[in-house]
Amino acid sequence: MIELAPSLLAADLLHLGKEVEMMMDCGVSTLHFDVMDAHFVPNLSFGPSLCKTVKAAHPACTMDVHLMMDNPLDYVQVFADAGAHTLTLHLEVLEDVPGAMGAIRRAGMRCGLSVKPKTPAENLLPYLNTVDHILIMTVEPGFGGQKFMPEQVEKIRLLRSAGFTGVISVDGGVNAENAALLVRAGANHLVMGTAFFRADNPRRIADAIKELT
Ligand code: DX5
Ligand code: ZN
Repeated sequence: MIELAPSLLAADLLHLGKEVEMMMDCGVSTLHFDVMDAHFVPNLSFGPSLCKTVKAAHPACTMDVHLMMDNPLDYVQVFADAGAHTLTLHLEVLEDVPGAMGAIRRAGMRCGLSVKPKTPAENLLPYLNTVDHILIMTVEPGFGGQKFMPEQVEKIRLLRSAGFTGVISVDGGVNAENAALLVRAGANHLVMGTAFFRADNPRRIADAIKELT
């Protein structure tokens, strides 16, 4: 099954509650939650209190949290307490990947590892048995609404041919047009910000993703 994870970053921030309700009404229950610290990426976004607020209002919502931070290990327990289901950290800032993934698991979450576009997928190979979820960035992290980088798709193929059977997520510039290509390459989790929350008809997008296998 292909999971669609709309990114809250692209939602109408003045009406977040309505946006999450709209997403759930479209039959989508995974929400991608981008946390930015203005160090790892040149932007600031949301923190754990908003994650907790969304989860409290929508207990059926699966919080897919992506930490774009220099010091993500300081926030593992904080996001567990805030209701995160999956916690994804960037490989670029980790010294001890198995230790970090173990801390996430012990806190009761699924563990994810992400790479920026310039980080080779080969750097992930030692950890394929350690992680539940790999997130391939297909834009430079920091902002929604950027153009998809097609050359990153090869990373998905490499991970599948190396035998990775967990979740492969793609984040950045994903839309209804490039979704099929990503799924064919082996992705099974599609983060979609602008293309979902700014769509004229988000339900049509959700239905189109459900058709993909
Ligand atoms: C970018 C974030 C993405 C972003 C995707 O740093 O990690 O999750 O919200 O937004 P779109 O789909 O608009 O590229
Ligand atoms: Zn993200």
